[in-house]
Amino acid sequence: MGTRKTPAFKPLLIAATALALLLAALFLAANTPSEFVSHSSAKTRVDASSSIVGGTSTTASNFPWQVLITANNKEFCGGSLIHPMIILTAAHCLVDDYGNYYEDRPGLVFRAYTGRTRVNAGGVELDWHSARVDPRYDAIRTVYDWGFVSLDSPASAPTLKIAGPDELPLWEPGRKATVTGFGDLYDGGPSSTVLQRVTVNVLADSGCSRYGAAFDGTTQLCAGYIAGGRDACQGDSGGPLSVTGDKGARRLIGIVSTGKGCALHYFPGIYSRVAEPELAEDIQSEVELIESLDDFPDAYSGINVIGSQARPYGCAASIKARKIAEQRVESSERALEAARRTGNRDRIEAAKRSLKNAKNRLSDSRDNSERICF
Ligand code: ARG
Repeated sequence: MGTRKTPAFKPLLIAATALALLLAALFLAANTPSEFVSHSSAKTRVDASSSIVGGTSTTASNFPWQVLITANNKEFCGGSLIHPMIILTAAHCLVDDYGNYYEDRPGLVFRAYTGRTRVNAGGVELDWHSARVDPRYDAIRTVYDWGFVSLDSPASAPTLKIAGPDELPLWEPGRKATVTGFGDLYDGGPSSTVLQRVTVNVLADSGCSRYGAAFDGTTQLCAGYIAGGRDACQGDSGGPLSVTGDKGARRLIGIVSTGKGCALHYFPGIYSRVAEPELAEDIQSEVELIESLDDFPDAYSGINVIGSQARPYGCAASIKARKIAEQRVESSERALEAARRTGNRDRIEAAKRSLKNAKNRLSDSRDNSERICF
């Protein structure tokens, strides 16, 4: 449809839009398990199911540990497979504001899938056992917003480890991260039928200053754009905020948790800060408790869900470049000595210049690898 509308067409368009909105509202009223999906908290609009704004379609093969959680066969939340028998998601995807588990409500059936590129087809269903949330989860403040779904049998998909204490450079403010999900394409809009991905910046706590006291830097991570435009949205909740390190290492650094609207100027997304070393340790302990409570087979017990030794993307290449630059300086030094032995002024001057260049390049590449790796 073009941007120009004839005056005669306008009333028709308004009527059609109104009708479409009415139908959409009726459809939602009929299909949304509203009494369990809508949380009445301080948040602006809190559907447990939060999609991506400003992203692009991707495939499950790029995010094999991405989990889709459905409630009565409708898109509900995202999650991450962090252990062959445990999904990590948002607490607000599993319990209501009073801490009651959704899975205990009669008539409500939850399912989880990996490998789904399309929201309603393909992939592998996971063998849902039971849900548990972090005991400190507070629905009003949206702090400690994470929980677990244990499985009756191990998933075959690969797992995503949480970034470890020696991997902080992977997600310090300024780094890029990726958020994925089937959530709404804009605030109040339709959810996506195809898995979406969008790149966001990891921001310092100050990036979420407009949230005031509603942002808690000890348990929440701010990520997105001050200018808005790209963000997670309703329906993406529980899904992964992940980073890519060198050699394709992927790590989880956050869980889609909350935000004001979606992709708004001055209001980046708020994620559960799961890779903060103390919080990651808490998650590891919670995983160990689940392994024992649910009697996981030995092969699936004692699993470390925290990664280590992944380096930021581009670090290995920058170290390699630095080594080459070091060797250039050494060989330029030898060349200068050789030139001096000839006593030829021009050759000495030329060798001095190339040594100076090599030293400059080395200093640049040192700065570069320091910037990238640390
Ligand atoms: N709490 C939302 C949900 O339940 C997630 C919202 C994420 N919002 C955002 N702007 N990043 O679906």
